[in-house]
Amino acid sequence: MSIDYKKYIASIKDFPNEGIIFRDITPLLQDGEAFRAATHDIAEYAKSRHADVIVGPEARGFLVGTPVAIELDVGFVPARKPHKLPREVESAAYDLEYGSNVLEMHKDAIKPGQRVVICDDLMATAGTLRATKELIERLGGKLVGAAFYIELTDLKGREKFPDVDIFSLVQYH
Ligand code: ADE
Repeated sequence: MSIDYKKYIASIKDFPNEGIIFRDITPLLQDGEAFRAATHDIAEYAKSRHADVIVGPEARGFLVGTPVAIELDVGFVPARKPHKLPREVESAAYDLEYGSNVLEMHKDAIKPGQRVVICDDLMATAGTLRATKELIERLGGKLVGAAFYIELTDLKGREKFPDVDIFSLVQYH
């Protein structure tokens, strides 16, 4: 059954800064049927890419990626903000549609050669994708796909990564 996911995404003008239209996925998460359908559609995509492991960037990538990993019976690896992971990490800095940050992954989080699909709620400028891809590759993983609930097409994130297979449930201009 196909779902009109846009019905479950709220758009808030000028949040958190003037000029940004914030796309809020919490109504989708609140609806059991929509959340299950979004999880299933992304899991089918990750299965088609033969994913061995799912990586989700903090924080909303945890919400998107963990149920996908469970559906596929594969592991989940968090890419976290600085100073959260207790053991040796790799770090990569990134810029966002608004602001910038650093992401970290445990050095032993990915086994060499593992096929990795990144799951997150939204691709804007693809700064998070850039940092997460760099971490996965430094750890010896093979990035075979990136899946999002939402793609902001005007920010042209997809064009920055012609070699990455990118999947999104809905697109906004
Ligand atoms: N992250 C970056 N840009 C965003 C947007 N417009 N809405 C929600 N999350 C975002």
